[in-house]
Amino acid sequence: MLDLSTFFLGRPLAAPLMNASGVWCNVTNQLNALAKSEAGAMVTKSCTLVRRDGNPEPRYHTLSMGSINSMGLPNEGHLYYLDYAQQHDYENKPLFFSVAGLTLDDNLTMVAQIQDAYTPAMVEINLSCPNVPGKAQIGYDFEALDVILAEISSAYARPFGVKLPPYFDIAHFDEVAEILNRYDKVAFVTCINSIGNGLMIDINSETVLIKPKQGFGGIGGEYVLPTALANVNAFYRRCPEKSIIGCGGVSTGEHVFMHLLAGASIVQVGTALYEEGVDIFARLKIELARIMQQKGYQKIEEYQGKLKTI
Ligand code: DOR
Repeated sequence: MLDLSTFFLGRPLAAPLMNASGVWCNVTNQLNALAKSEAGAMVTKSCTLVRRDGNPEPRYHTLSMGSINSMGLPNEGHLYYLDYAQQHDYENKPLFFSVAGLTLDDNLTMVAQIQDAYTPAMVEINLSCPNVPGKAQIGYDFEALDVILAEISSAYARPFGVKLPPYFDIAHFDEVAEILNRYDKVAFVTCINSIGNGLMIDINSETVLIKPKQGFGGIGGEYVLPTALANVNAFYRRCPEKSIIGCGGVSTGEHVFMHLLAGASIVQVGTALYEEGVDIFARLKIELARIMQQKGYQKIEEYQGKLKTI
C-alpha cells in the first residue's frame, strides 16, 4: 500500500484516521479495540467530572443518510479515562483525551488532574455538545468561548485542542477564528460536532425517533459532510498556526480525501464507525490509497490543504 503515514503536532501516525469522540470509546474494551485497529490515533468519550448515565433511551437512531443522537454525555467519569490514558501504548498510536465539563470549574479541575498525571494524551475540550438539557453549547457563546480558552490556557501548561460546533455564517467563522488565534496553546481545532437539534419523524407512527428533548438531537453522517468540509476549510484558512482535525460525514475513502484536501490533518469517523465497527479503518485506508494511486500521489502532504478554488 502507498504511504499513508503522517505527523500530527510532531507525533507520527500510521494513517490520518481516528474515531470521533463518543463512538467506540466509552469503556476500556472499546478503547482496546480501537488501539488494535488500523486507526492512526484515537480519542476517549467526552468525559465529565463524575460518571453520568446520560439521557433516557432510545437516544440514538440510524437514518437513511446518517444518524440522530441525544446521548447526553453518558460516560464513566474523568478518572476512568485517566486510568486508561495511563495504560495506553503511545508508541502504537497517539491518544486524545476528550473533556466536556458541565461548568468551567469542572473543566479546570479535569485538566489540572490530567496535567498532574503526566500522560502524553492530548486534551480536546468539547465545546459543542448539543444534548445536555438546559446547557447551551459554549461554541455558540463567543464571550464564554473566550473566557474558557483564557482560563484553560492559564491553568494547563501544554497545548490543547477544541471541538467546535458547526458554524453557518462567514461572519461567525471570522469571529471564532479571531478568538481562537488569541490563544497560542490552542494547537488544534476539531470541526465539527454533530449539527445540533435536528428532528426526524417516523411517518407510520407519526412520532419522533428519540426520547430526549422531544425528539431533537445531533445529526451526523452523510447529511453533514458539506457543512463539515466548509468548517474544516474555513478554520484551515483562518488559523494557519493551528492543525485541523476533520469530523463529519466520513464513510468512504473519497470523504477522507476531501477532508484532507480541505485542510484536515487527521480525519475522524463517527456515525459510520458506529454502524460498521473498527474494521472500517482498514477499508478506509484501502480506499484512500486507491484514490491516491489513481491520482499519482505518494504521500498525504502532497495534497493536504491544497484545495483549489475557481
Ligand atoms: O452529538 C453529540 N453527542 N455530541 C457530543 O458532543 C456529545 C454526544 C452526547 O453524548 O450526547
